[in-house]
Amino acid sequence: MALRPIITAPDSRLKVISTPVERVDDDLRALMDDMLETMYAAPGIGLAAIQVGVPKRVIVMDLAPEGELPEPRYFVNPVIEWTSEDLARYEEGCLSVPEFYEDVERPARCHVRYLGYDGTEQLLEAEGLLATCLQHEMDHLEGVLFIDHLSRLKRDMILRKLKKSKRHDATAEA
Ligand code: NI
Repeated sequence: MALRPIITAPDSRLKVISTPVERVDDDLRALMDDMLETMYAAPGIGLAAIQVGVPKRVIVMDLAPEGELPEPRYFVNPVIEWTSEDLARYEEGCLSVPEFYEDVERPARCHVRYLGYDGTEQLLEAEGLLATCLQHEMDHLEGVLFIDHLSRLKRDMILRKLKKSKRHDATAEA
């Protein structure tokens, strides 16, 4: 397993629409292992493959509370089959939008069909944080970030600040 660098906004790669996985094999499992390790190290609760520069429809997640046993989850080619009409609001963050947190409203519950770590088809009925996190990560597969759900004014302000802090980092490393 290896840590992979996480891409941060603004970056055109984060706008790429990811392509479906053809086969869940050892190469794909190695990618998922790397993604999970990278997510834990960040630390974060969810990561889509495009965030480490791989445009495949793959997500890893772990929502276990701190101090409890890890509960890694893997989603290959996830498809949302149903969303509730009632909405839920959560303060979201993203490893690709470091240090910014904003409320986003999404369907409170959803049903997602996907392939698991072993390639078998699964159906998950999600609610609460899991439903929100799934929709956030699945947005990444379409090239959408949580800040795209905010007003243009707010989004542009965040992107400007991110750009500025990237410049600072580049100077520090030079
Ligand atoms: Ni994210």
